[in-house]
Amino acid sequence: MKWTLTVRITHWLLAIGVITNLINESGSIHRFIGYACVLLVLLRLMDGL
Ligand code: HEM
Repeated sequence: MKWTLTVRITHWLLAIGVITNLINESGSIHRFIGYACVLLVLLRLMDGL
Protein backbone atom coordinates (compact mmCIF):
# COMPACT_ATOMS: atom_id res chain seq x y z
CA MET A 1 0.00 0.00 0.00
CA LYS A 2 1.45 3.34 -1.05
CA TRP A 3 -0.34 5.65 1.42
CA THR A 4 -0.79 5.08 5.16
CA LEU A 5 -4.26 4.85 6.72
CA THR A 6 -3.75 8.20 8.50
CA VAL A 7 -2.92 9.91 5.20
CA ARG A 8 -5.92 8.36 3.41
CA ILE A 9 -8.41 9.28 6.16
CA THR A 10 -7.11 12.83 6.75
CA HIS A 11 -6.92 13.42 2.97
CA TRP A 12 -10.56 12.57 2.30
CA LEU A 13 -11.91 14.29 5.44
CA LEU A 14 -9.96 17.40 4.42
CA ALA A 15 -11.29 17.20 0.84
CA ILE A 16 -14.88 16.82 2.09
CA GLY A 17 -14.37 19.67 4.63
CA VAL A 18 -12.95 22.13 2.09
CA ILE A 19 -15.67 21.39 -0.51
CA THR A 20 -18.40 21.66 2.16
CA ASN A 21 -17.03 25.04 3.32
CA LEU A 22 -16.80 26.29 -0.26
CA ILE A 23 -20.50 25.47 -0.73
CA ASN A 24 -21.68 26.59 2.74
CA GLU A 25 -19.93 29.95 3.05
CA SER A 26 -20.93 31.26 6.50
CA GLY A 27 -22.30 30.41 9.93
CA SER A 28 -21.20 28.27 12.88
CA ILE A 29 -21.01 25.04 10.86
CA HIS A 30 -18.66 26.76 8.36
CA ARG A 31 -16.45 27.91 11.26
CA PHE A 32 -16.51 24.48 12.95
CA ILE A 33 -15.55 22.64 9.72
CA GLY A 34 -12.86 25.24 9.02
CA TYR A 35 -11.18 24.71 12.40
CA ALA A 36 -11.58 20.93 12.05
CA CYS A 37 -9.66 21.21 8.74
CA VAL A 38 -6.85 23.07 10.54
CA LEU A 39 -6.65 20.21 13.06
CA LEU A 40 -6.55 17.66 10.21
CA VAL A 41 -3.60 19.49 8.63
CA LEU A 42 -1.79 19.58 12.00
CA LEU A 43 -2.46 15.85 12.44
CA ARG A 44 -0.98 15.17 8.99
CA LEU A 45 2.11 17.25 9.82
CA MET A 46 2.58 15.47 13.16
CA ASP A 47 2.14 12.10 11.44
CA GLY A 48 4.76 12.99 8.85
CA LEU A 49 7.41 14.39 11.20
C1 HEM B 1 -15.59 30.63 -1.28
C2 HEM B 1 -15.19 30.12 -0.15
C3 HEM B 1 -15.34 30.76 1.21
C4 HEM B 1 -15.97 31.91 1.60
C5 HEM B 1 -16.70 32.91 0.74
C6 HEM B 1 -15.83 32.02 3.03
C7 HEM B 1 -16.35 33.04 3.81
C8 HEM B 1 -16.21 33.15 5.17
C9 HEM B 1 -16.79 34.20 6.00
C10 HEM B 1 -17.65 35.33 5.47
C11 HEM B 1 -16.42 33.96 7.27
C12 HEM B 1 -16.77 34.80 8.51
C13 HEM B 1 -18.20 34.61 8.92
C14 HEM B 1 -18.49 33.45 9.81
O1 HEM B 1 -17.64 33.05 10.64
O2 HEM B 1 -19.62 32.94 9.77
C15 HEM B 1 -15.61 32.78 7.28
C16 HEM B 1 -15.03 32.25 8.41
C17 HEM B 1 -14.23 31.11 8.42
N1 HEM B 1 -13.93 30.31 7.34
FE1 HEM B 1 -14.52 30.63 5.43
N2 HEM B 1 -15.10 30.96 3.48
C18 HEM B 1 -14.78 30.16 2.40
C19 HEM B 1 -14.05 28.99 2.41
C20 HEM B 1 -13.45 28.43 3.53
C21 HEM B 1 -12.68 27.20 3.55
C22 HEM B 1 -12.39 26.34 2.30
C23 HEM B 1 -12.26 27.00 4.85
C24 HEM B 1 -11.42 25.91 5.43
C25 HEM B 1 -11.43 24.68 5.00
C26 HEM B 1 -12.78 28.10 5.65
C27 HEM B 1 -12.59 28.25 7.02
C28 HEM B 1 -13.11 29.28 7.78
C29 HEM B 1 -12.88 29.46 9.22
C30 HEM B 1 -12.02 28.57 10.13
C31 HEM B 1 -13.58 30.60 9.61
C32 HEM B 1 -13.66 31.22 11.02
C33 HEM B 1 -12.63 32.33 11.14
C34 HEM B 1 -12.80 33.12 12.42
O3 HEM B 1 -13.90 33.16 12.99
O4 HEM B 1 -11.80 33.73 12.85
N3 HEM B 1 -13.49 28.94 4.82
N4 HEM B 1 -15.50 32.30 6.01
